[in-house]
Amino acid sequence: MLSTLRVTSRQAVARESGMRALLTGVRAGSTWANVPQGPPDAILGITEAFKADSFGEKINLGVGAYRDDKGKPYVLPSVRTAEDKVVASRLDKEYAGITGIPSFTKKAAELAYGANSPALKEDRLAITQSVSGTGALRIGGAFLQRFYPHAKKLYLPTPSWANHNSVFKDSGLEIGTYRYYNKDTIGLDFDGLVADLKAAPENSVILLHACAHNPTGVDPSQEQWRKVSDVVKEKGHFAFFDMAYQGFASGDADKDAFAPRYFVEQGHNIALCQSFAKNMGLYGERVGAFSLVCASAEEKKRVDSQLKILIRALYSNPPIHGARVASTILNDAELNKQWLGEVKGMADRIIEMRALLKKNLEDLGSKHDWSHITNQIGMFAYTGLKPEQMDVLAKEHSVYATKDGRISVAGITTANVKRLAESIFKVTG
Ligand code: LMR
Repeated sequence: MLSTLRVTSRQAVARESGMRALLTGVRAGSTWANVPQGPPDAILGITEAFKADSFGEKINLGVGAYRDDKGKPYVLPSVRTAEDKVVASRLDKEYAGITGIPSFTKKAAELAYGANSPALKEDRLAITQSVSGTGALRIGGAFLQRFYPHAKKLYLPTPSWANHNSVFKDSGLEIGTYRYYNKDTIGLDFDGLVADLKAAPENSVILLHACAHNPTGVDPSQEQWRKVSDVVKEKGHFAFFDMAYQGFASGDADKDAFAPRYFVEQGHNIALCQSFAKNMGLYGERVGAFSLVCASAEEKKRVDSQLKILIRALYSNPPIHGARVASTILNDAELNKQWLGEVKGMADRIIEMRALLKKNLEDLGSKHDWSHITNQIGMFAYTGLKPEQMDVLAKEHSVYATKDGRISVAGITTANVKRLAESIFKVTG
């Protein structure tokens, strides 16, 4: 009896371990068995955490997306009008050309460079529509990787937009950094910036935020930009501009484009990435442009041909709806004027919220100097809060923002600013 039992249980154990081995074998043999779990996105992951919080007064200051004073996403009235026009015109759904809709890219170029730019007048700007600003960066990264004739290393400011590093690394470029932000002054480390650009090997690629630096909200003055242009020229560096916030910084699209325009005036043949996510609120429509200033019209033709080859292999040609909406606004004098007024309205609300947050913190008796909140510009305030403090803000106060202390001022409203200030005060004193 005993021996029969032993045999039966031995058989059961053998069967079980065989089954286990089979299962493990199946798992180990799975094609994706070695794919590791990745972390949530540093910015977009915040929205997931925010959504999972059931507290009624939670505040999302993570992703840079404009909200009105009711905390609601804002579709610009000029965009609504343009969209109605596009729909009413019952256009076909044929493919756009590889570089997009020409009526859009022509006006996007004028908006960025100015209608009188020598690059436009001399027909030496290669421009393509892109899948918003990120897509523009990726096209630029891929173009540099394929054709840049010097070391394929791109220098980012410290800090920079969290996604820059991934975009350029995935494009096959090496990444370097240059000093930008001084955490002691909560301002620009201009000397560090200049020293690092001078120390970088000649012909390096330098990524510059054209305005409303993300995440710090700290921009060089026009005088400092002139100096940066000189150093870049001296060293033969290549200036690669990311302009995701034209109009959003000062409320004036021309003023915000000062840096790239000045560089072109000074003879730099720059790269420029544009996004219409923020200034037209076309976030999910993915409307943007990538352009390269060339030395001549003949060079532009060659560059354009290679951009087409590159894009054709990436996504063939861009989506049309958002670009048609943007094109309608940019090509209609009345609508264009209305839109520029609406951009200013958004920028002004952000400037107002900065002042209100600072005032609320001061009224609470905070012993910190919060003047950087109003000195910084654009969608974000770089509060100086540490990652542990940001954790407490999220866990104990349901205030969500990125770990680096960046808050999207566009998410602040007259209704939530008091609770926000109280939360920050509790965390920082
Ligand atoms: C941001 O920095 O929050 C925005 O540019 C949105 C994004 O895609 O990260």
